[in-house]
Amino acid sequence: MTFSKESELNRIAVITGAASGIGLGVSKRLISEGWTVWALDISEASLQQAAGQLNAGDQYRTATCDVASTASTIQAFARISASTKSIEALICCAGAIRIGWMEEYTPEEVDLMLGVNIKGPWLCVRTALPLLREGANVDKPKRVVIVGSVSGLRPKVGSGMYAATKAAVHVLTGIMAVELAPSGITVNAIAPGTTDTPMIVQMGQTTSKVPFKLSGKSPLGRMAQPDDMADAVSYLLSDGARYINGVVLPVDGGTRAAHV
Ligand SMILES: NC(=O)c1ccc[n+]([C@@H]2O[C@H](COP(=O)([O-])OP(=O)(O)OC[C@H]3O[C@@H](n4cnc5c(N)ncnc54)[C@H](O)[C@@H]3O)[C@@H](O)[C@H]2O)c1
Repeated sequence: MTFSKESELNRIAVITGAASGIGLGVSKRLISEGWTVWALDISEASLQQAAGQLNAGDQYRTATCDVASTASTIQAFARISASTKSIEALICCAGAIRIGWMEEYTPEEVDLMLGVNIKGPWLCVRTALPLLREGANVDKPKRVVIVGSVSGLRPKVGSGMYAATKAAVHVLTGIMAVELAPSGITVNAIAPGTTDTPMIVQMGQTTSKVPFKLSGKSPLGRMAQPDDMADAVSYLLSDGARYINGVVLPVDGGTRAAHV
């Protein structure tokens, strides 16, 4: 594919886990707002399917990337760097969950969740830094948004290890926010409540007997849709959010606010 010259490009966002669920919803939203999206995902087939669905031409560019793999992540960002020296935003959506009792998890499942949910966002931010720092300034900061989870704020039995990784990535968000602020880069997280995506279908297929239940409908009477998350991300990327840094924003219809 031949890319437009850099001077002709609009704002560029890199989105991980962009081929499905929340990442796909955010991609769709940003494209409609005129952004060029670099979509990174471990699944090449899903990326191709998303590209067909979005039909956004040069505004949706794809690169296969396993965010838990250093080599794969460096390779994906090298492709992006070959077409631009600067990006405006990085949105880390890629995530992995396994359901089970703590004693049931296998070391492989734990490595997967630690790799995708904690190392992944850290590695993507670290690798994206030259592109984010280029042209950044504190009055018009570049943006990083990490998709955490309400389970990292109010954990549940059954998704214990996942919740621990999401709590950890909320902490990383705050640390990176403070460290990167002088470079003109803000780092925030959204913490979605249960959202209608393929991930919750996958959770429902667990063979574990752990008594895990999805939160389902929020106090607002419905389950979140990817669009609800896309709205929050879009706000955090907007000029109006230029002074918001280091927050973990629950987007859960109030689910975590009180036990019913
Ligand atoms: N769906 C929910 O209820 C919910 C709630 C809270 C938080 N989240 C978080 O939202 C984010 C998006 O989840 P979703 O619900 O859209 O799930 P999803 O399964 O629909 O999408 C996740 C995407 O991440 C990709 N991915 C997985 N491992 C990857 C890797 N190693 N490298 C690159 N890409 C990888 C998958 O291929 C998939 O396209 C995740 O971080 C998830 O933990 C989801």
